[in-house]
Amino acid sequence: MPERREINREMILILLGAPGAGKGTQCARLAQSLVVPHISTGNILRDHIERRSDLGVRIKTIVETGGLVPDGLMLDLLDERLKKSDCATGFILDGLPRTFEQAVALDSRLHPLYKGTSPLVVRLIVSEYSLLRRLEARRICPSCGESYSNYLEHVKTPGICEHDGATLVARSDDGPATVHRRLLRYQEKISPIVEHYSRNNVLITIDGDQPAHRVTTEILKEITSHRKRRKPIDTASQLV
Ligand code: AP5
Repeated sequence: MPERREINREMILILLGAPGAGKGTQCARLAQSLVVPHISTGNILRDHIERRSDLGVRIKTIVETGGLVPDGLMLDLLDERLKKSDCATGFILDGLPRTFEQAVALDSRLHPLYKGTSPLVVRLIVSEYSLLRRLEARRICPSCGESYSNYLEHVKTPGICEHDGATLVARSDDGPATVHRRLLRYQEKISPIVEHYSRNNVLITIDGDQPAHRVTTEILKEITSHRKRRKPIDTASQLV
């Protein structure tokens, strides 16, 4: 992978959280404030499925039944995305890492690309009650991808996308059985990832059960203090 010049104000933000924790919602808001791209591995995969690319055909069942796409495929997709010029000053990552192996492989990619910049890893903590309620209520615009919630009041015409008038639909992996599997998978895999970032002193935890605007404010505050004290992660013993 090509080396990237060191730039003064890179921002590498990684959001962790259970399905429905608000990663996508926060990333969209933060990407606007910080002027860096929002990389959502879930969106990349759903786009492949929608376009019926070779990869999309291979992973459709895995994604729609709440399984995990193999690490190798995910890392190839990540490499492809990080090569794009809009990542030159950083990015906000949502959906990866999902396994400890992905976390270590991510470090090994960040080090040569963004020398001198350590990521800030934000973990959103949300009660299971709220997660289930949010996922049950989530509706997506099949045309532009905008995400809505049936239980938040700000939608002008319920069930209709404000941008293009399309009828909103539930996400195909938001049915109860698949949500149950996604939550289980998350609980099985998250501890070593959290320990890894905690050891490297780059992890902060935010109460994601608050209204979305408060969560954003807290994350932005943490970003400011992280920028003052950041150090690169030591990848010497972790390359995979
Ligand atoms: P992905 O798309 O990443 O799904 P996820 O991690 O399960 O997360 P969600 O998108 O469901 O939730 P979110 O935390 O983004 O919440 P959101 O902001 O939408 O991945 C999908 C699948 O792809 C995986 O299951 C896997 O198969 C595969 N995959 C992806 N990455 C992979 C990887 N690295 N390795 C292997 N496989 C991979 O919010 C949810 C709802 O709540 C919305 O309606 C929103 O409006 C509402 N909401 C948000 N914040 C608040 C708030 N503060 N208060 C009230 N409501 C809120």
